Order: sequence, then structure tokens, then C-alpha cells
Amino acid sequence: MPAREFSLALDASESSPLFVQISASLARDIARGRLRPGDALPGTRSLAATLGVHRSTVVTAYAELAAQGWVATKPGGATFVSAASPDVKPRRFTRKAGARGIASSTGYAVDAASVGALPIARLPRDGFYLWGGVPDMRLVPVDLLARAYRRVAKRCGRRLLGYSADALGQPELRAAIARLVTEARGMNAEAESVLITRGSQMALDLVTRSLIRPGDVVAVEALGYPNAVNVFRRAGARVVPIRVDQHGLYVPALVALTRHTPVRLVYVTPHHQYPTTVTLAATRRLALLELARRERIAILEDDYDQEFHYDGRPVMPLASNDPSGNVIYVGTLAKILAPGLRLAFVVAPPALLSRMAVERSLIDRQGDAVLECSIAELIEDGDVQRHARRTKRIYHARRDAFCAGIDRELGGVLSYRRPAGGMALWAEVSPDVEVEAWQRRSMERGVYFQIGRQFAFDGGSMQSVRFGFALHDEKESAAALRRVAEAVPRL
Ligand SMILES: Cc1ncc(COP(=O)(O)O)c(C=O)c1O
Repeated sequence: MPAREFSLALDASESSPLFVQISASLARDIARGRLRPGDALPGTRSLAATLGVHRSTVVTAYAELAAQGWVATKPGGATFVSAASPDVKPRRFTRKAGARGIASSTGYAVDAASVGALPIARLPRDGFYLWGGVPDMRLVPVDLLARAYRRVAKRCGRRLLGYSADALGQPELRAAIARLVTEARGMNAEAESVLITRGSQMALDLVTRSLIRPGDVVAVEALGYPNAVNVFRRAGARVVPIRVDQHGLYVPALVALTRHTPVRLVYVTPHHQYPTTVTLAATRRLALLELARRERIAILEDDYDQEFHYDGRPVMPLASNDPSGNVIYVGTLAKILAPGLRLAFVVAPPALLSRMAVERSLIDRQGDAVLECSIAELIEDGDVQRHARRTKRIYHARRDAFCAGIDRELGGVLSYRRPAGGMALWAEVSPDVEVEAWQRRSMERGVYFQIGRQFAFDGGSMQSVRFGFALHDEKESAAALRRVAEAVPRL
């Protein structure tokens, strides 16, 4: 059959190789019935000439099609479309079919809509995300990471790319993290008390799988981090919200709860409370640690942005002052390096970590060992710490410029405390502004920010907003705030 009958258009600029383009195109023609069982494909030499490619490219494409079962080669060398082509009619997963099938199961503990994602598609290209807690990807040290990965892969790839014996993570990274938190975060950690995970989210999940049984009470900050709350709910925990004020978690309310209800675990973000950004006051920290010791409550400390503290010294984690061993500490590299690396860690008693390693091996046998060893080298060489110091300076300046922008553009609308650290700012909104409408109108102008209701347990309306200031530089933030100010709807 002549080559012009193929719907073959090769594109040299495409990332897939030419032989893949040829085989995929022919497979499509067979699937659609343009080529029928028994039809002969053109000889490799003539097709190569027609397409202007090397003959070996066509030979490889035919071999690929034969391996997939689309074609067979007869003695003598001619290639024909197979009598029974593989999966000629691809199945379509329609909404209707899903509704009758397994996807119709009910009783999920977590509502899919409450598991948030960036509304990327809804913003125009010149839009701005004032999204709290997301680092500026333009600052990620991509070359440094790529060089380290390549170096380690070349040197130790044969060892590291196999199955690993250790679901706790690579010993090199566990040791590097132990040193890091000991030197910079006042903790007293050894490699044995560190578990590496793919992101804090996995860490929260593994802690929950290891400690929480259905019906156990988990106390959480309210307002709080929905991604943590959803994990506890999914495990069948009874989640009890404890209010937060300008000093962080209101520990007296937790004390009152424990008088009549045994609490298994309390989840806290003491350094920069999520989402309000306040730091847990010293008296509350001590009271919380003492309560945990007395009532044998596990404290799950999520310390997601320890490095980014601008005013005064960073407050050390609860885990640095925990002689009775009640604190399970979670840290992440999402903010100081990049969220997509999916690297975080847990510091906890080794017996608990072994349990978590078992849970981990059931869902994700091991981490990316090459990546873990590359990051270990970057920590040992001080590169990660240098990068963190550099981005901290940048975010510090962005915070100051952002606050100045708010004072300029939204002075009569918002009242706020300048956050001492972190990557976001929390503000109360004047009562004559309808917050949901403001968020909607800002989106129409291409600027996204979060509102208090998104962190509330009852989903009720709140006169508060959260702005991320790290994602954009000073000029961009000023432009974004101008649009946000234009969008204010007065009642
Ligand atoms: C409260 C809190 N914990 C942890 C994280 C980091 O999560 P991960 O390490 O899974 O990216 C974030 C990121 O936004 C966060 O806000």
C-alpha cells in the first residue's frame, strides 16, 4: 500500500523519537480501521524513502508494532496487519459507566472537594497567585540539584537504583538531617531517629496509620490545615477543633477537653500557625508539653517553614524541649528547596519509626535513593543552608514590600499583624466588605487569594483573608495588590 495513504506527519521538533511517531501513527490507523487485518505495510525501504528517514528508523518502528501485536511479519519479510489487533476499540470511562461501577461506592471519609488544588486553569496568563506557603519556583536552584543528582547517579546509580533494604530512607540523608536539626533547630537527633518521607503529607499519613485507631480523639488547631485534618478523618479519628488566638493554640481549651475525654494526639503548627501565622507563646508551649507528658498525648509538630523567620531569632521547635519524648516532629524541604522534590522527614523515637517504615513499605516501598543521597551531599556541603539563607533574605524583603503595599492599597479594608516569619500574611477584613464576593471579583481580575472560610471547620463565612507574599517579586505583588484593591466590593 502506498505511503501517501497513511495519516503520517512526522515532526522533527517533537520530543518523541521518529520511530515512535511512525509506529504510533500506524497503530492509530489500524485502530481506526484505515488499515485492516491482512493489509500489507509498505516495504521498509520504500516507506523510508517516502518519509525521508533512515531505513533503520522504519525497521525499528515495525519491530515496535510487532512487539505490540499490531502487525506480523511473514516468511520472506513482508509485514501485515495482524488478524486480531490488540484492543482495537479503546474503552471509554464514561460518567454513566462510572456511576454504576466501582466508583459508585459511597462512604468515603473525606469529601474530594475538600482536598484543595491550585485553581491553575482559572487564572489568565498574566494572573497572580497570592497563595500562602508556596515558594517562588524561579528561585529553585535547578542547576545545583541537577548536578548533584547526576553526580550521585553516575557514581552510585547501580547500587541506588535497585530495591532498597531500608524503608526508613537513605542512611546518608538520615544522618545529614539529624545533624541539620541538631545544629540549627536545637534538637538532639541521631540518624536512627530520622525517617525520610515523600513530603510532609506522607509523614502525616504514616504517623496516623501507626498511631490512630478509629474513634481515637485527635485535637487540631481551628482554624487549621485541611490536608492534615483530612488524613485524621480518613483514619476514622474523632477530630476535635481547638480554637486559636493571637498566641496560637488556646491550650486551656485542650486541657479542659482532656478532663473528660482521652486525647490520643494533638496536631500543631507552633512556629507559624497555619493559616493565621502566629507563633505559639512560650507559656502555651510549656503548658502543652506538660499536658502531653501528664496525659500521655502524642504531639504531632508540623514545622513546615522553620528557616523563614525574619524578626528576631526563630523560635525553636517543641521537639527541642521534649525530654519525655512525646513530640513527633515533621519537617519538609518543600519550602527551602522545592515542593516537587517530595522530600520531608520525621524525627521520632526509633520504635515508632520502625512501625511507620512498615506502613510506608505497604504503600510506597522506598523513596528515590539517588535523590535522597544527592540532597544529603548538598546538606553536607552547606549548599541547602546557603540557599535557604538567600531565599530568606528575598522573602524578608518581599514581606516588607507586601505589607507596605497593603498599607497603601488596602489600609481602610484590612487590619493585620506583620507576620514574624513564614510566607503568608493573615488579615481581618472590615465588616462592610463581603469577603466571598471580593475573592470572586479578584479572580475575575486575575488574582487569587485564600479566604478564612477555606480553613474553617464548619465552612462558615469569616471576615479574614490569607495572602501569600513569597511567590511574586515586589513589582508583581504591587500590581497584584492594585487589582485586589480595585476588586473590593463595598456593601
Ligand atoms: C501546614 C503545612 N504543613 C506542611 C506543608 C508541606 O507539605 P509537603 O511537604 O507535603 O509539601 C505545608 C505546605 O504548604 C503546610 O502548609
